[in-house]
Amino acid sequence: MTRILPLNDGNTLPQIGFGLWQVPADQTARVVREGLATGYRLIDGAAVYGNETGLGEGLRQSGLPRDAVFVTTKIWNDHHGYDAARRALDASLARLGLDRIDGLLIHWPCPEHDRYVETWKAMVDLRAEGRVTSIGVSNFLLPHLKRLIAETGVTPALNQIELHPRLGQAALRAAHRRLGIVTQSWTPLGQGKSFATPAVAQAAARTGRTPAQVVLRWHLHLGCAIIPRSSRAAGLAENLALWDFDLTPAEIEAITALDTGERTGPDPMLFA
Ligand SMILES: NC(=O)c1ccc[n+]([C@@H]2O[C@H](COP(=O)([O-])OP(=O)(O)OC[C@H]3O[C@@H](n4cnc5c(N)ncnc54)[C@H](OP(=O)(O)O)[C@@H]3O)[C@@H](O)[C@H]2O)c1
Repeated sequence: MTRILPLNDGNTLPQIGFGLWQVPADQTARVVREGLATGYRLIDGAAVYGNETGLGEGLRQSGLPRDAVFVTTKIWNDHHGYDAARRALDASLARLGLDRIDGLLIHWPCPEHDRYVETWKAMVDLRAEGRVTSIGVSNFLLPHLKRLIAETGVTPALNQIELHPRLGQAALRAAHRRLGIVTQSWTPLGQGKSFATPAVAQAAARTGRTPAQVVLRWHLHLGCAIIPRSSRAAGLAENLALWDFDLTPAEIEAITALDTGERTGPDPMLFA
């Protein structure tokens, strides 16, 4: 079962989805089929993951109506700019075998190239044309968000950022709340680095859940959307079974206190 979050454009976002980064292209249709059969209704894809064809195949094989599933893709760093962004969406839709995408994100701001505002303008137009339902960003820092809003008047519906117990992103989450932007956590399991900590292990022992479920439940308590990845049917099922237990305020606080500011991925100011 999943729950939905309201977006600032009037649409909704399933709070739990599953991600496809590093899922091999020849396994993607299976993973997508299994994820949808398990009950997920959001798939986090990206052009750069190299598996959009399998995503589309799995979606069709699931037999679910198109409108039942929120499909996300992202514009990669070498497709910034107005025309390039439009071409990137055309190419993604062709690979997916879809005529519309639910969520289109700018994958990284690439401030060094300084073209993300032009990319955003293309996405605003694509949304007006009905080819994209909701538009958002990924890996944007507050100055990047402020500039998009100042220069276009359009606030992203969501910002997908690296977020896990080692990188709690409290300041950016608070800014998102003020601006009406949903926070969607990528690498929500943080490569398992917090699993053996007393904060997570004790909550897992008390609730009878796995450390992965405790960490994912922590994200939900913070109000974040999550997109954990598992290539295993059992992992997909485990990562969706999060609504029938709660963490206590003290447990949430103890996990939040694990923050060291440690990223697993690149610094958004530098990555190009
Ligand atoms: N926007 C961006 O820049 C960006 C960057 C990175 C990721 N993402 C998105 O975020 C998604 C999730 O991030 P991620 O793939 O880096 O990492 P993740 O979901 O935090 O972790 C995935 C890893 O954890 C394992 N795992 C999954 N469920 C588990 C469980 N219940 N117990 C134990 N281990 C478990 C998986 O192995 P098994 O497959 O064996 O279960 C896999 O090795 C990506 O797939 C992608 O869609 C976006």
